[in-house]
This record gives sequence, C-alpha cells and structure tokens, in this order.
Amino acid sequence: MRHWPPPAVSTATWRRLAVGPVAPFLDLRVHFCRRTVALPGPILLPGALCGRLRCAVRSLGFGGNDLAVEWTMSKRLAGKTALVTGATSNIGRAIAEVFAAEGAHVAVSGRSAERGGEVVDGIRARGGRADFVRADLDGTAAASRALAEEAARVLGGRIDVLVNNAGIYPGDTTAATDEKTFDRVYAVNVKAPFFLTAAIAPAMAQAGGGAIINLGSWIAPLGIPIGALYSSTKGAVETLTRAWAAEFGPSGVRVNAISPGVVQAFAPGDEHPAEAMMKGTPAGRTGTPDAIADAAVYLAGDESSFVHGIVLDVDGGRTTTAVIAA
Ligand SMILES: NC(=O)c1ccc[n+]([C@@H]2O[C@H](COP(=O)([O-])OP(=O)(O)OC[C@H]3O[C@@H](n4cnc5c(N)ncnc54)[C@H](OP(=O)(O)O)[C@@H]3O)[C@@H](O)[C@H]2O)c1
Repeated sequence: MRHWPPPAVSTATWRRLAVGPVAPFLDLRVHFCRRTVALPGPILLPGALCGRLRCAVRSLGFGGNDLAVEWTMSKRLAGKTALVTGATSNIGRAIAEVFAAEGAHVAVSGRSAERGGEVVDGIRARGGRADFVRADLDGTAAASRALAEEAARVLGGRIDVLVNNAGIYPGDTTAATDEKTFDRVYAVNVKAPFFLTAAIAPAMAQAGGGAIINLGSWIAPLGIPIGALYSSTKGAVETLTRAWAAEFGPSGVRVNAISPGVVQAFAPGDEHPAEAMMKGTPAGRTGTPDAIADAAVYLAGDESSFVHGIVLDVDGGRTTTAVIAA
C-alpha cells in the first residue's frame, strides 16, 4: 500500500497492522509530518507491539495528516526452499518464477540445461534466488534420489516444497499405443514423482514439515476419447495425492494436487484443437501458466496450512460445468 500525501491513520489501517498474535512480516515505512522514515525490512512486528504503537501515537495527540504508515505484505514464501520438476517450460517454469518472486529459493529442474539456465537467469535478474539442477526422470528410484540429493545440496540442505510437475502427454489412441510408450509415460508421470516423494517427504517430516504439490489434469476425472494412457497416469497421481496426505500429513507434510484445464499459449488466429476442449466452459478459453502458479503458491504457503489431500481444479470450470447456450 502506498499513500502520499499521507492520509489520516484510519482505524482500518491500524486494525490491519495489529492482526493476529504476530503480525506478518512487513516492509514498514512511516510518514511523519511530511518526512519519511524507512525501517529496514522485512521485520517481524508482534501484534502487541502494533497495539502499543497505536496507543502511543494517539496519546501524543497526532492525527489528521500528520502520520501515515505504508507497508507491503511480506513475500508469501520468504525463507522457503522449493524443488520444481519440469521447470524448464510452461507451467513448471511459471511456478518456479512465481515461487522465486514470492521469496523462495528455487531449484529449477528439467533435462534441458539451456532452457533451465534461461529460467534461472531470468529469476536472478529480477532479484530472486534459483539454481538449475539437471535431471532425466526416467522413473528409476536412483534418478529421483539423485535429483533429491542434488536439489537439497543447492538449496542449503533442506527442501520445504516439492512440486511434482514434470510430465509428458502423448495423445495416441489406445490401439496405437505401444508398450514402450506405455512404460515411458508411467515412468515420467507416476514412477518419478513416486520415488521423488519417497526420497524427500521423510526428510521434510524430520525437519518439521513441508508441502508437496502434484500436477493432475482435468482429463483424469473427465473421460475424453484420446489420451487414455496419459489420463490414467494423472488419475494415479491424484490418488497418490490423497494417499500421501494420509501417510505424511500427520508428520506435518501437506500433500495436495492441482488439476489444470488446458494451459497453452497459442498464436493468435491459430485454431489449435486443444482450444476447442475449453469451449462450453465458464472461462471459455485456455488457461495461462500463471493461473496454475498462483494456485501453487497458495498450496505451498502457510495460508493453506489446514488443507490436506485436495485436488484443486484450476481448469476454467471444465470438469464442473457445461455452459449450454440459451
Ligand atoms: N499444459 C496443459 O494443458 C496441462 C493440463 C493438465 C495437466 N498438465 C500437467 O502439468 C504439468 C506440466 O505441463 P506443461 O504443459 O507445462 O508441460 P511441458 O510444457 O510439456 O513441460 C514439461 C516439463 O517436464 C519436463 N520433463 C519432461 N520429461 C522429463 C524427464 N524425463 N525428466 C525430467 N523432466 C522432464 C520438461 O523438461 P525438459 O524438456 O527440460 O526435460 C518440461 O520442463 C504436467 O504434469 C502435465 O501433465 C498440463
């Protein structure tokens, strides 16, 4: 919030400052008699101290335009570390970028060092913290374990948030799917997150807690006539989400999933078949990676501390509604 010239100190302002037993981290700046005093932030302002500050200012007889307080809410993932798989492209990239913007130190993972480097450079150029960790998640426990170890190392020994985002989605019909493709899709989409979670969740629990976010898909609960193999892997991921929430939740590790609708950017005028899949939805369009990333910030942060085992549909209404023209 930014006020200049400073308005009167409203009750609402003070109430917002003094919320909770401990107010959130704040970057605080005080405007007093047209002078600005910037307090080095972020600082932790106990709610009780906010209350005392309010009383002190009032007792001195100041009011009107003499004093205003300007603050910014702290970053929602400040101090956290996060590993995002498949962060070299589209949804994973957006999650890594938004996590870093919210204060997390992010391990950006994928196979492409070139695209991973671009993501890391962009985050660092904006003042964030990120490192690239190359991994080919071939479904073996060894590959997932190696990624877990290297990510923990670059993140300073601790992973607070794991986003199991890497995924592949060939759209063949069932009859056209060979065994090699079947094994590959299950390896990347199911086995890799399974063994990555196995490698990371116990350490999270030992450290006092953490958050795991899996990527499901709108075509897990809604049958469509293509991509049966891919749909089934996402069904497995959503089931794993609930099972892991029960298994790790009591140790402080919250496990949830996001189920995106179609999230792709298409060139204007280029009618892609995937766009047709979002017709008849309330949103009426494909989604943006940022919409998924915003949901991931919520599930990764303390605002969702009471949320376990859900699959959050961020799909423009694809799985819940059918908009039928009147
Ligand atoms: N986009 C959608 O419309 C949509 C809808 C519903 C659900 N989802 C789910 O959301 C997630 C992300 O989708 P997206 O569209 O952003 O995918 P994408 O653009 O195709 O990117 C996939 C990511 O996974 C990584 N990856 C693929 N195979 C890998 C492997 N063997 N080892 C390590 N990393 C690998 C890729 O990195 P490298 O190329 O660097 O290896 C890339 O960063 C997926 O789980 C997908 O199923 C997407």
